Amino acid sequence: MQKNKGITIQRHIVEQERLFPQATGDFTGLLWDLSIAAKIISREVNKAGLAEILGLTGEVNIHGEAVKKLDVFANERICKSMEHGGHLCIMASEENDDVITIPEEFPRGKYVLMFDPLDGSSNIDANVSVGTIFSVYRRKTTGKEATIEDCLRKGTEQIAAGYIVYGSSTMMVYTTGQGVYGFTLDPSIGEFLLSHENIKIAAKGRTYSINEGNTHTWDEGTRRYIRYLKESDPSTGRPYSLRYIGSLVADFHRNLLYGGIFLYPADYKDPKKPKPKLRLLYEANPLAFIVEQAGGMASTGEERIMDIQASDLHQKVPLIIGSREDVLAYEKYFEQE
Ligand code: AHG
Ligand code: MN
Ligand code: MN
Repeated sequence: MQKNKGITIQRHIVEQERLFPQATGDFTGLLWDLSIAAKIISREVNKAGLAEILGLTGEVNIHGEAVKKLDVFANERICKSMEHGGHLCIMASEENDDVITIPEEFPRGKYVLMFDPLDGSSNIDANVSVGTIFSVYRRKTTGKEATIEDCLRKGTEQIAAGYIVYGSSTMMVYTTGQGVYGFTLDPSIGEFLLSHENIKIAAKGRTYSINEGNTHTWDEGTRRYIRYLKESDPSTGRPYSLRYIGSLVADFHRNLLYGGIFLYPADYKDPKKPKPKLRLLYEANPLAFIVEQAGGMASTGEERIMDIQASDLHQKVPLIIGSREDVLAYEKYFEQE
């Protein structure tokens, strides 16, 4: 019999809250509101094939990516679920060019929420797992209204981070700096129930996740590292298997549970102007907080993701994340350019 059967995410958040004597229940309310948004997005993702919610909106976002109807739905859903609770002073989303202010009529809170409302959305029409990624910070400015300064932070300042993966089941994984916990949605009662207590990632994996179609854009260090993983050496568990879904949340979640390394290096076609793809604030930082809490590592290849001071809302970084020994091995190859 599973010993922690039936612990809902609400009960877990309250118990986590009790670890911080100065906590006011405000944080509990924030995560609770977020879990409701997640259930609504899960319902839409799971019936996407039926509802008129698939396909493109015809718009293009700040990253030049075609916007899917479900991107817009998820983005609006999170904003609507989070703006009225009085827990937040400002938000920022991968899908919004500028910060998202709290409407006049609602009270302001002390937290900042930044999120990727729908990650992996290019896959949604093919019924492949997608996700939502979020980060929570404490406000740092003291004026009447929060500003973009409250969003341009270092990952080490996060007080919570998590993701929801809408897959064969809907799971919410989060950390508040006290370990990583996974909750699986039981649709029959509409509750997220604790299913993965204190997740730890293996020190070394047997799989690597990278888009091999980009080999021609990689730097020499990345090329040599991937070649190394493919050489057969049973004593070190090589060759590794390639597992790449193309949804960061799904690829990350698999590596968190099974061990492994996910790599999205910068495009070095122009060596003087490396071009990374993944977003620091909405993808790299939250997943870096989670993987470090699970005993793993997250790096650009030369620096810790969570040490980077954000200077732009849509800043992109190379992301090498997963089992500690694998990320360390990559860093050795990357620096031996
Ligand atoms: P998003 O759907 O939020 O734009 O994120 C897509 C990202 C990430 O989910 C995934 O790891 C990566 O794009 C896949 O990129 P490629 O298709 O270039 O491999
Ligand atoms: Mn994304
Ligand atoms: Mn997205």
